[in-house]
Amino acid sequence: MASNRTAGDVKDLSLAKDGVNRIEWAEREMGVLRLIRQRFEKEKPLAGYKYALCLHVTSETANLAITLKAGGGDLVLCASNPLSTQDNVAAALVSEYGIPTYSINGENNDTYYQHISAALDHQPHYTMDDGADLLSNLHTQRSDLLGNVLGGTEETTTGVIRLNAMAAEGKLAYPVIAVNEAETKHFFDNRYGTGQSTLDGITRATNLLWAGRKVVVGGYGWCGRGVSSRARGMGAHVIVTEINPIRALEAVMDGFTVMSGAEAAKVGEVFITVTGGLHTIGRSHIEVMKSGAILANSGHFNVEIDIPALEEMSTSHRKVRPFVEEYTMRDGRLIYLLGEGRLINLTAAEGHPSVVMDMSFANQALSAEYLVKTQGTLKAGVYDVPKETDQEVGRLKLEAMGIEIDTLTAEQQNYQESWDQGT
Ligand SMILES: NC(=O)c1ccc[n+]([C@@H]2O[C@H](COP(=O)([O-])OP(=O)(O)OC[C@H]3O[C@@H](n4cnc5c(N)ncnc54)[C@H](O)[C@@H]3O)[C@@H](O)[C@H]2O)c1
Repeated sequence: MASNRTAGDVKDLSLAKDGVNRIEWAEREMGVLRLIRQRFEKEKPLAGYKYALCLHVTSETANLAITLKAGGGDLVLCASNPLSTQDNVAAALVSEYGIPTYSINGENNDTYYQHISAALDHQPHYTMDDGADLLSNLHTQRSDLLGNVLGGTEETTTGVIRLNAMAAEGKLAYPVIAVNEAETKHFFDNRYGTGQSTLDGITRATNLLWAGRKVVVGGYGWCGRGVSSRARGMGAHVIVTEINPIRALEAVMDGFTVMSGAEAAKVGEVFITVTGGLHTIGRSHIEVMKSGAILANSGHFNVEIDIPALEEMSTSHRKVRPFVEEYTMRDGRLIYLLGEGRLINLTAAEGHPSVVMDMSFANQALSAEYLVKTQGTLKAGVYDVPKETDQEVGRLKLEAMGIEIDTLTAEQQNYQESWDQGT
């Protein structure tokens, strides 16, 4: 473990060279963030401000951190999940890029929160979260620092839900931009990113064949749509469970089998939760599952599978492969839990491909700039990424991909805005 007060706390600084290679590899696919970084280097829009970032410490996040630093931001980074840190990336950030980083893959809960606290010791003007753990810690444990904070951003659906709950109770102390709500974020990151990387994580952990497999996807939101369509693409028979009638209908009309969780539990072979909610797979489901069932979660927190119930219902458990825990149930059935029920795409694989994180993190960087520009004008609350920013990220992404699209002619524009033209 390599630790000092200014540099952070990472596993092993000698991993830095591999980390640099990994960060540079991701950068090749992050054309929008590159353009922003080049502009930030000249304009320094974040100069004079301190940032505490609590994000998955991956090669893509490293590129965001490098961009914010190029913009003049004085930042520290800690992990937003104990199992998602890429230790070589963390080492590179500390030793090659001068960004203090507090995160070690596999850290226990105490260290995880100590690292969040260390990031808060930086006394940030702005926070950047993925799941709102840093912001929530700041409001509950370190509220003495709140007076210094001017704003924040939040990356994911679960974090936005927590923020909205805080705002509704009047507990949120500063303005936060909900980056997840940008179309250039959730349309692509949640759907295509989570879709592909979740299957990647489960494949790496188990080496299973998807073709012909009965896969139950819990939740047909942005992530669930992606996971379902990618699993179908691999030849799986996909069953969707939902609580929202419209999402359930959408899944039916997209060609998936929809049934209740209770029924799906009896027939499924692989279960993937992406609801953001509590106990999508609970005791009653586990009771009726077939022996050999594999359980994985790709939602933000490790609460979607009722792991305490699984432990209670089993007589023993053992690790049979990295990321695979085999539970022997009282009746002799074997149930397999992947990645301790934490988001499997980041625990057993590498998270989203850089090409989608490019758009998510472009929204983060531009939101950071927007918060500085609008300083003092936004009241405490949850805000969307401005529509123009979202559109601009989409435009730049197309440009980076070398794709041209059409624009309306003046005549077409006029027609769109009129109400008196018929056939
Ligand atoms: N793994 C990743 O890298 C990654 C990336 C993005 C988002 N996320 C996380 O994934 C989760 C889902 O995000 P999203 O953007 O798809 O959210 P979403 O709100 O679009 O979708 C969630 C869906 O789950 C359904 N649902 C809720 N409870 C349910 C239950 N008990 N049974 C069945 N369905 C239920 C809801 O009706 C909704 O349709 C969140 O926790 C989010 O933070 C993870």
